[in-house]
Amino acid sequence: MGPLHELDERVEDERDDRGDKEHEQDPARCRGQGIEREDRQGEQDRIQRGTTTGATPGGTGPGSSAGRGSCGASLVMLRSMEDALPSVTLLFCGDVVGAAGRRALLGSLDSLRADHAPDFLVVNGENAAGGLGITPKIARELFTAGVDVITLGNHTYRHQEVWAYLDEEERILRPANFLRSQPGHGTCVVERGGVRLGVVNLQGNLFLDSGRTAFSEADAALHELSNRADHVLVDMHAEATSEKVGLGWHLDGRVTAVVGTHTHVPTADARILPGGTAYITDVGMTGARGGVIGVKREQAVRQMLTRMPVRFETSEEDPWVQAVVIRTPRGKRRRAESIAAVHLPAGRP
Ligand code: FE2
Repeated sequence: MGPLHELDERVEDERDDRGDKEHEQDPARCRGQGIEREDRQGEQDRIQRGTTTGATPGGTGPGSSAGRGSCGASLVMLRSMEDALPSVTLLFCGDVVGAAGRRALLGSLDSLRADHAPDFLVVNGENAAGGLGITPKIARELFTAGVDVITLGNHTYRHQEVWAYLDEEERILRPANFLRSQPGHGTCVVERGGVRLGVVNLQGNLFLDSGRTAFSEADAALHELSNRADHVLVDMHAEATSEKVGLGWHLDGRVTAVVGTHTHVPTADARILPGGTAYITDVGMTGARGGVIGVKREQAVRQMLTRMPVRFETSEEDPWVQAVVIRTPRGKRRRAESIAAVHLPAGRP
């Protein structure tokens, strides 16, 4: 969430999740996590994935070793495997804000599935718990509902009970360009129907406290994923539009999609960049549009008017799901053929 929260003293009204029974997860679907774990997997793992999932082990990122030293027969096999890569649909939902955002998302999933038939569902959940951060209970609720990967941002560590969970659960990501010493990891790979989706979470360096630079970490993340993912979705959680546009250009042709989050206001610039990467500066917010980027509007306006601290609460008024649907072409890795914004009112009869 944006700078409004620098003065936030909001009521922590949704932290009732300590001690809850852990839900069963589906670890077999997650194919990896941090750089350190990738280092342990090594070349043997990459070869196995290429031959057992039906997806090419070739890569487009820096350091890719696709095809090097292979015989002609192997190259033919790899080409055949790439040709067999099916088209997939990615649904990415903008920042889920508070209980209203969670209800909007969960209550709209059947409709979203019917309308868009997503193969993968990725959600930014950094405001899911009372508008600030996320808890293990809420993350599990989202996973149980069918979310494949949760990305986060500048409120990642708001709730201390999530710190250990960020190391334990592979499919919840904090920005990869946080310090390596901070809990969690910034990349993972999930698989469905023989297609491997890599997800990378980054955070901007303008006006946000990111320990390392987003652009160089983006390159490092692609190197890590070079042979492990058929498609790559990047969530750039950033304040400055210029920084997100710049990252889109930096990654164009190397990833399937770069989607921006954090401002909670959707931009009208969704497009396919010349290299084939789907791009949007900000997806928007899954939450109450009747507030000020998720906060009750009377409280936000009072703080702006008086310049005095105001206790913030999460708005419940007029919840919407704001998302993008990205479709990929058959037989092409790390390319998109379309991106479309979804603005869906929720909770209306
Ligand atoms: Fe944020």
